[in-house]
Amino acid sequence: GNERNENIVWHEATVTRARREQANGHRSVILWFTGLSGAGKSTLAHALEERLFQMGMRTFVFDGDNVRHGLCADLGFSAEDRVENIRRIGEMAKLIIEAGVIALTAFISPFRSDRERVRGLVREGDFIEIYCRASLDACEARDVKGLYAKARAGEITDFTGISSPYEEPESPELVVDTGSRPLDECVEQVIAYLTDHHFIG
Ligand code: PPS
Repeated sequence: GNERNENIVWHEATVTRARREQANGHRSVILWFTGLSGAGKSTLAHALEERLFQMGMRTFVFDGDNVRHGLCADLGFSAEDRVENIRRIGEMAKLIIEAGVIALTAFISPFRSDRERVRGLVREGDFIEIYCRASLDACEARDVKGLYAKARAGEITDFTGISSPYEEPESPELVVDTGSRPLDECVEQVIAYLTDHHFIG
């Protein structure tokens, strides 16, 4: 419908997602990690990727380091910018699963409606929402980057959990207690889910 796009013709790929998945020997899927700053999303995503990669799978992690410095370098942390951040990441993840790759995304993604929009972009079963559950107290006590202290001091505005909301997932596929359980255990929990649901065999 977009006027600007009316002359764009879609080319049908002969190398389809299904063929890529068959060649790879595994399904592609979006593993969407969500949770407070410092909850351990990136740590868990990278540890899990390491395990999957060692099992011979094709994987890629999207996190702040490779997205907010590039594709989303123009965005800050207002509600509006976060919505756009998650929209772009969702579209990226959608492309990457078409490429047969397991996409692991590690973003706060604080708004339920944004996460649900991404879920709606892909086929049923392609979006696995993994809530990295850690209390605000736990995240703030760790304060790995010192950002909570700055947020409390008013040096950072719109900080998630302090001056900007985080909407907990209502029915995520998985809840992982990253705030209180050791990393290994969290990794095993996700591996078990993926095995039980035949994403990996
Ligand atoms: S969002 O809400 O999904 O768009 O955020 P995300 O792209 O995941 O970026 C979160 C990381 O940016 C740092 N940071 C902030 N987080 C929250 N609120 C504010 N105001 C903010 N400013 C900077 C912070 O280090 C987050 O990293 P993680 O890895 O989540 O701790």
